[in-house]
Amino acid sequence: MKIVLGADHAGYGLKEEIKLVLQQEGIEFIDVGTLNGEESVDYPDYAEAVARKVASSDFDRGVIICGTGIGVAIAANKVKGVRAANCDNPVSAKFSREHNDANVLTMGSRIIGPEIAKEILRAWVRAQFEGGRHARRVNKISEIEERSGVS
Ligand code: RB5
Repeated sequence: MKIVLGADHAGYGLKEEIKLVLQQEGIEFIDVGTLNGEESVDYPDYAEAVARKVASSDFDRGVIICGTGIGVAIAANKVKGVRAANCDNPVSAKFSREHNDANVLTMGSRIIGPEIAKEILRAWVRAQFEGGRHARRVNKISEIEERSGVS
């Protein structure tokens, strides 16, 4: 599995901390920034960078962190083919994979601590989409995109 990571200034520190989990899980990843620590940046820029790489199929999944996880989720979900789930607990993270086939995980560094973030990420990378009735529902999400003309 190949993952693309991104964060704004608020998420920078947590982005650095969760890399350890990806290394432990043996997952290949790249970091599209921010690479400038806590210097202020705009979260949609990093959300779009991650989302485009996931949508292009160059990467299987993406992880994006901002202060709340909300702004980056909203932005990433504007890119066709992206299903970003903002999770603050491992159960939601697991279901976001199993039922929603979420291909982007977002988290909020001002909402959760690093240990729970690592648990969430572990649960998310280990869980698989269940397909079946869930595939029909996820297809309906794609149909909404088609009707809305998002790209
Ligand atoms: C940045 O201050 C903050 O607004 C951003 O990280 C994020 O929480 C937005 O949703």
